[in-house]
Amino acid sequence: MPDTLKHRYERIAAFAIAATILCAVAAASSVPTRAESEASPIYGVTIPPGFRDWEVVAVSQEAGDLNELRAILANPAAMRAFRSDKLPFPDGAIIAKVAWKRVASAVDDRALGPQAFVPGAASTRQFMVKDSKRYASSGGWGFGRFLNGKPTDAAQHGTCFACHASFVSGHDFVFTQYAP
Ligand code: HEC
Repeated sequence: MPDTLKHRYERIAAFAIAATILCAVAAASSVPTRAESEASPIYGVTIPPGFRDWEVVAVSQEAGDLNELRAILANPAAMRAFRSDKLPFPDGAIIAKVAWKRVASAVDDRALGPQAFVPGAASTRQFMVKDSKRYASSGGWGFGRFLNGKPTDAAQHGTCFACHASFVSGHDFVFTQYAP
């Protein structure tokens, strides 16, 4: 092999080795983009990373004092169960309820008349995480309610399962139905 060609091969080999080492170092030291949230009392549920990108199962509105708009989102495992209406939800299923204050929209109202409402300030982020072993005593679901990224108190978490169990035990403790 001519010398120049040999040098070129050596350079390529050296570059490949260096690139591999760099990748390995980067992977080992990769920092999670979002720090794990504090865990909810009783259940130890944390805010699942990336939940805001999940698919929409349905939306809901609560009038009265809360005056909120909500989106119910599901991770892929929960979404498959919703779509096929297959119960119970499998382990690994997570359902999120994302709530905002419901506010009138001055911009939309200009186009539609005074009737348009949109999400205002962020309210609670709530999660139900299916793990039939860990959460055997609460229908297989772990609950977490967060406000401004922090879990709400134990008293609130003491109410989650009781209410879900009173009304929707026949739908694996989940109120929301998939809105096609
Ligand atoms: C007094 C009854 C009640 C209590 C207490 C309650 N929920 Fe719910 N939850 C509901 C109702 C009704 C819905 C459906 C309406 C909606 O989504 O706005 C719901 C929906 C949800 C959903 C979406 C999945 C589903 O079941 O539709 C999650 C997640 C959730 N709740 C989490 C929690 C957590 C966490 C707590 C406790 C901190 C809690 N809930 C306490 C009544 C309750």
